[in-house]
Amino acid sequence: MRHEQIEKNVNLMMVLIVIVISIGGLVEIVPLMLSADATEPDEGIAPYSALRLAGRDVYVSEGCYNCHSQMIRPFRSETERYGPFTTAGETVYDRPFQFGSKRTGPDLARVGGRYSDDWHRLHLIDPRALVPQSNMPGYPWLAERQVDPDLITAKMKALKTLGDPYTDEQIAGAAAAVEGKTELDAVVAYLQGLGTNRRLAR
Ligand code: HEC
Repeated sequence: MRHEQIEKNVNLMMVLIVIVISIGGLVEIVPLMLSADATEPDEGIAPYSALRLAGRDVYVSEGCYNCHSQMIRPFRSETERYGPFTTAGETVYDRPFQFGSKRTGPDLARVGGRYSDDWHRLHLIDPRALVPQSNMPGYPWLAERQVDPDLITAKMKALKTLGDPYTDEQIAGAAAAVEGKTELDAVVAYLQGLGTNRRLAR
């Protein structure tokens, strides 16, 4: 009888469906929010330095994630190629995550230290100068654009309010750390730090 009432009342059914689905979602999501594995940084993971933070913004604004993932899955085919698989604790300071879902180019989660700074500079300006068959676009304008020191200082302050443990000295020194740096310097610094916490331990 009650079942019939539910089936004949679309609105009631919708409300009940939403409740049932929410329970399923909460059961999956809430334990993760409380688990230290997912919320505490892994060893060697610190908030981004001012220059790397600026580089991360370049990475996002240029849409590098459209072709590159930063998520090594726990399969042998991936770990043999890229290094140790990605953990949640490595990405606690990533807002938003750069996991990505498309790999036109290789995964970048452990690219830090794999090439020299000069390699990255040249590769970003003209990928085909180094990898003739590459279909990655060049980003020559990065070398001409300056990082905005005030913006990075403001961003670090905002991240601190969200819980990133920046010290007052780090925030005070942020402007000086990016003064005179180009977006190319910043994105290279960002790339060179990716995944080094566990790549070195391999
Ligand atoms: C249209 C797709 C595409 C976009 C967008 C793209 N890439 Fe790539 N990227 C590739 C491909 C394909 C390769 C492999 C060939 C090569 O090395 O150039 C690659 C290689 C790389 C490598 C070398 C990785 C390795 O392990 O050898 C780095 C680093 C890199 N890209 C960084 C970037 C950054 C930073 C951006 C954004 C500024 C970016 N890419 C945007 C396609 C792309």
